[in-house]
Amino acid sequence: MEHMSALNKEKVFSQCNIVLPQWLDDFIFNKLNAQYCRSNSNMTVIDWGQKEILNYLGTYFPRSYAEAYSIFKRYLQTNCIFETEKSLRLLDFGCGTGGEIIGLSTALAECRANIKVLNVKAIDGNQYALNRFDDIKDEFNKHHILQIFSKPSAIKIDDFYDLSILDSILDEKYDIIVSFKAVCEFVTKQQFEEKNAYEYLAKFMLPKLLDSGLMLLVDVTTKNDVAQEWLPDLMDKGLQNAGASVIKRNPLNNETFVVHHSRQRADISKVAWRIIINN
Ligand SMILES: C[S@@+](CC[C@H](N)C(=O)[O-])C[C@H]1O[C@@H](n2cnc3c(N)ncnc32)[C@H](O)[C@@H]1O
Repeated sequence: MEHMSALNKEKVFSQCNIVLPQWLDDFIFNKLNAQYCRSNSNMTVIDWGQKEILNYLGTYFPRSYAEAYSIFKRYLQTNCIFETEKSLRLLDFGCGTGGEIIGLSTALAECRANIKVLNVKAIDGNQYALNRFDDIKDEFNKHHILQIFSKPSAIKIDDFYDLSILDSILDEKYDIIVSFKAVCEFVTKQQFEEKNAYEYLAKFMLPKLLDSGLMLLVDVTTKNDVAQEWLPDLMDKGLQNAGASVIKRNPLNNETFVVHHSRQRADISKVAWRIIINN
């Protein structure tokens, strides 16, 4: 663990080489008992129980934290978006334990001191994951002026008709919409039959995005065994069919993010990401 305190002296080495903040590392591993334990590539977290969610928390939460922190911080540093707002609304589809929400919130806290409140609509079908996100959100609030208020919604989407259920709870428009590594599970489980899940999600979400807002879609870059397609290709086809305006994307096929924490030094993730705006 000694290397962590040395590493934390300089929290961020570069934009894509991130150290999990010490408070967050302590909280997930020592208080919540998260475990570092990698799984296979076509995993479906929706079915996981309490113990497996703790494995998710110790393994994949830090990766999503680092990806969201890096992508948002870079974007906030090079654009004047959200420079005058005092509060923002965020919608996360498939938030799980919420690594991306905490990463994004940390980037906002560092780059936009004007924002004091982040209202989060956190949607996921796994109640265990939502409970852990709730714990972490409360702990985040003890360490930051920016306060996260969240309304976790335990909703399992079984097919694309179920998306209309969401309409009843999503009664406002959002400044930021994110979905991190959730659509891949819909592809694996063929929840939108054989239709393009990215297309359905984009068509459903984009009308809920404010004109001044942005949507960030992030997913793993593997070839999906069920769809027999590379997920970034499927993502691009889906976004194009949905008429989405992609304004930024990872260079080349994927982008590598490195996160350091007390259970794993230099843990590497590779993802495809797209930033989308309303036309
Ligand atoms: C790989 S996890 C990603 C979690 C989080 N976004 C992150 O990056 O750490 C995928 C999430 O999507 C959720 N999910 C998958 N299928 C779902 C469905 N049919 N309805 C609701 N949530 C679903 C899972 O419960 C899981 O938390």
